[in-house]
Amino acid sequence: MTPAIKPDVELPREFATLLVAWQRRHGRHELPWQNTRDPYRVWLSEIMLQQTQVTTVLGYYQRFLQRFPDVRALAAAPLDEVLALWQGLGYYSRARNLHRCAQAVASQHGGEFPASAAALQELPGIGRSTAAAIASFCFGERVAILDGTVKRVLSRLLAFEGDLAGSAAEKQLWAHAQALLPAREADMPAYTQGLMDLGASLCAARSPQCLLCPVSELCRGRAGGEPTRYPIKTRKLKRSRRENWWLWLEHEGRIWLEQRPETGVWAGLWTLPLFDDEAALSAQAAALSAELELMPRIEHALTHLDWVLHPRRASSVSGNPPGEGRWVAREDLAAYALPAPLKRLIQG
Ligand code: ADE
Repeated sequence: MTPAIKPDVELPREFATLLVAWQRRHGRHELPWQNTRDPYRVWLSEIMLQQTQVTTVLGYYQRFLQRFPDVRALAAAPLDEVLALWQGLGYYSRARNLHRCAQAVASQHGGEFPASAAALQELPGIGRSTAAAIASFCFGERVAILDGTVKRVLSRLLAFEGDLAGSAAEKQLWAHAQALLPAREADMPAYTQGLMDLGASLCAARSPQCLLCPVSELCRGRAGGEPTRYPIKTRKLKRSRRENWWLWLEHEGRIWLEQRPETGVWAGLWTLPLFDDEAALSAQAAALSAELELMPRIEHALTHLDWVLHPRRASSVSGNPPGEGRWVAREDLAAYALPAPLKRLIQG
């Protein structure tokens, strides 16, 4: 028998209470950015966790803290060093904003993160949900988070029929998220973490484990028999496809690298010269008397883009290519922020 659907007004308080109790008993408590109320540490982890899994973030988080123990240290560092340390986490606009945000905190807030979600949200790279996560973890502020995971949890809980491709439905879900918050500020850290933990474990995208879920009795998605129907999102992400040829010039242990412009994919990273077609690459290679070696193509999937790269290698070159770039010795590569597929390629 499916559980009875409870009316709207009864839902909120019970949900928060059950979730908080579950989080305290079964949630995650030992992640390195937990058990602290230091906004710098929480902010750093939240930015890293935006598009990257916990297991990957762990190492980066420790290395960042070791190198930049506080926000002033990060603000004072050259951007290149931040990007180099970010290497492999991807989505480098996060690293640029991280650096800009640290500089704003240092210069405009005397080195202290502001203590409210509203003020945090004014800083570079901090959106509404991230601001709320920091404010609820560090200051117990009663503000809702609503990232992709939480949208899944709450839209199932409420059997929310709104189409989250549209901003009206999203706005409505934000309002529900706010209405579901626990009454006590002291419960905010466990509640916020509970939403994340539930979404990362039992309320999984494909096979939710409703039998183990602390709020299954309240869950209208489950009551309707089809929790995975939610969240509803009709607009599919428009993906584009791109193809480029990559000229890998290596001479006496040094590789020719060029820095990407400040905008677009891989903004500011160091890469091999990129060409739109094979003929252009061949012409460049011929001008350098370089003999090309064909290499397997690389398929690199980004959020919006399927990128096919065709590397061509030349290991004896005379002269320099015309673009702005430099020869970098293999042993010096660590100081350069390289896109992950390039790193894999040149490390074999
Ligand atoms: N994802 C986003 N924030 C997180 C957090 N604080 N803990 C675990 N995963 C998260």
